[in-house]
Amino acid sequence: MQIIAHRGASGTYPENTLLAIEQALLAKADGIEIDVFCVENTLVVIHDQNVSRTTNGTGFLSDLTLKQLQQLDAGSGQQVPILWQVLQLVNNQTLLNIELKGADTAEPLLELLKKAETELGTEPDKLLISSFNHPLLKYIKTQRPDLKTGALTASLPLDYAAFASELGAWSVNCDKDFIDQQMVADAHQRGLKVLVYTVNDAVTAAKMQQLGVDGIFCNYPQQARSW
Ligand code: G3P
Ligand code: MG
Repeated sequence: MQIIAHRGASGTYPENTLLAIEQALLAKADGIEIDVFCVENTLVVIHDQNVSRTTNGTGFLSDLTLKQLQQLDAGSGQQVPILWQVLQLVNNQTLLNIELKGADTAEPLLELLKKAETELGTEPDKLLISSFNHPLLKYIKTQRPDLKTGALTASLPLDYAAFASELGAWSVNCDKDFIDQQMVADAHQRGLKVLVYTVNDAVTAAKMQQLGVDGIFCNYPQQARSW
């Protein structure tokens, strides 16, 4: 079972910061998941639309300039990174799972990846693009069929993993509270990987292993190896 650092090593370091990502790399995580919004046509790495939970600022991203956002402290003196910095840092060392949060992230992402492939040598195979916004994933797949996509769900759909097949996804990314044997079986039968969020304890990790899931998103990639 693969271990994907959720928002970097976010259990121990400020989530979605370069520090948390560095620590996930040091922990030799099999993948690193980050969340992405668009501010002034630049992709920024942050989970919420409002900055107040994760920074010393207040207000919505839509009311901030990129410069204002970058002046905030995201914890331990860290900045809110832009996606470019993360691509530079991860540099194909592990799978980078970019979760698209904002509905306006698709075009900037496609543009940025083209640039990163040319200028940084980013390997498309080392990327996984995921979202709860399925039309967005569908669009990305039409523009870049070579990119792996992960269809996120926070529920157990009636027809199990069929929606992910329909999207041409590589994985179905499920909530730990809804995953069951039938979902895993259906996804695997369709050739889809099953990734489960967010697993932060040994008991749940063992349960996921027993269900045969392929990977877990975990805030503690350092400890997860020993679970
Ligand atoms: O990608 C897995 C997980 O991060 C999805 O939920 O809210 O933590 O972004 P959330
Ligand atoms: Mg996420």
